[in-house]
Parts: sequence; structure tokens; C-alpha cells
Amino acid sequence: MAQNRHGSCTLTPDTDVVRVAQLTDTHLCRAPGGTLLGMDTDHSLQAVIDLVKREREGIDVLLATGDLSDGGAREAYERLQVYFTQLPGMDFWLPGNHDDRAAMESVAATAGRDCLSREIRAGKWQILMLDSQVAGEVGGELGEAEMLFLARALREAAELGLYSLVCLHHHPVPIDCQWLDEQMVADADTLFALLSGFPRVRAVLWGHVHQEIDRQYQGMRLLASPSTCVQFAPGSVGFKADDQPPGYRWLDLHPDGSIETGVSRVWDVAFNVELDSGGYL
Ligand SMILES: [Fe+2]
Repeated sequence: MAQNRHGSCTLTPDTDVVRVAQLTDTHLCRAPGGTLLGMDTDHSLQAVIDLVKREREGIDVLLATGDLSDGGAREAYERLQVYFTQLPGMDFWLPGNHDDRAAMESVAATAGRDCLSREIRAGKWQILMLDSQVAGEVGGELGEAEMLFLARALREAAELGLYSLVCLHHHPVPIDCQWLDEQMVADADTLFALLSGFPRVRAVLWGHVHQEIDRQYQGMRLLASPSTCVQFAPGSVGFKADDQPPGYRWLDLHPDGSIETGVSRVWDVAFNVELDSGGYL
């Protein structure tokens, strides 16, 4: 692993397939045992990690795509990095609306870790970690600086013949949940206009919506994934929790630019969740 001053990290996978696990929206509270809608988010994260251990033998990259803490507590990020030591591979984080970017940076710097790298290169792939957080807002927006970073990184990847996986927290397309669609990336049109110029971008991957999505758009795969804790009900008008269990997404990034991916959930553990709650924000 090597990092340069631009915050990029180069990994050398064991095989020519880059094996990725995405664990998103962990919503860890300040103290262990804290809950979200009645669910102990430490307990559910550990159950998902146990599932990953059973199902995925090798992992090169762990992607944590935002809402890693529930309230931005430094203690949550400190615990998160300890949880991730149970799994092989390097973990990389990006912020969601529940996160405190300064606390994330402080924990990463104290530990001397590269988990906030913006660009990961592994085999024939480039993975980009974008920041769609708008301070004080629930909804997301990338803004000019992120677009410039993205354009520069994609140009470099194109010159090197790398395929790209673009990650962020908020959803860049409507997902047919009215209350969540009010929070989607505000400048998604600009994002897709930019991506359309780079045919080696193979997928966009996000968190935030706490549900599985797998679509095709402009030749790309659009992917969202369950939270490691509480799920949100697909197709809902107002806030609605779902009884689906915690889970994660795995992705195998092949050297020909193809992607195999799927979602797996913890079915053998009982979790408490307050399904009649009116909201969680
Ligand atoms: Fe979340």
C-alpha cells in the first residue's frame, strides 16, 4: 500500500479480481449499546461483520459509505476502526449527513491511517470516495470542488486504462421513496453529465437509503445497499422503517471491467426495531 500527497492509495490485490465489501450507515453512537429506532447498532454491526467473515474469504477493500456515526462522536469512529480490524483488507470512509468530518479526520490522523483517502487504485480499478455532505443539512450536494476532483481523477484513470467505481453517501437518482427523494444529490444532473464522458466508469455506489437498489443507467450500474442496522421501507411516501435485517454488499471488480455484486443479510440473529416510529433524524 502506498499513499501520495493527493490522498490516493494504491493497493496490490492477491488476485486480478478486486474483492470489495461495502458496510454502510453503521450509525454507531457515542457509547457501545446505543440504539437507533430501538436497534443496538454495535450489536448489528458485529453481526454483519460475523456474516462477512463467514461468506467472504478474501477482501481487498472495505468501503464505509457514510453515516458511520449517528451523531458525529469521536468515540464512534474510534470504535469503528477497531471493528474493521476483524476483517482483512484496507477500510476507507466517506462522510454522510450524520457524520462529523473533523472528528473523522482527527481519529484517522491520530491512528496514522489512510482511511480517508479520496482515490484508491487496485489492479485495473480506481475507486473514488466523494463527499456529498452539506454541513447542517440532511440532503446531499457535491459542489464544484468535488466535481473538479472527480473530473481530474477520471481523466487520469482514462489515460491509465483503469475502470472506475464512484462512491458517495447520498443517492444521485430518485428511488421512489418520497421522503428520501427530497434528500437526493442536488447537483446529480451535473454529476451524470460529467460521468457520461467517461465510459470506463462502471458503477456508482451509495448508502443513505438503507435499502438495496441495483439498476442500469447510461451504461453504468447504480447500486445502493442495506444499512448494517435499521432498514427503510422501499416505496414509502413518508418515513417508514422496514423489517428486513441488517446486511452488506459485496462486489468483485474484474480486470475486464465487469462487476459481480450482491447483497447479503443476517437472517440468524433476532434484532429489535421500532417499526411504528415516525422518524429518526
Ligand atoms: Fe443512514
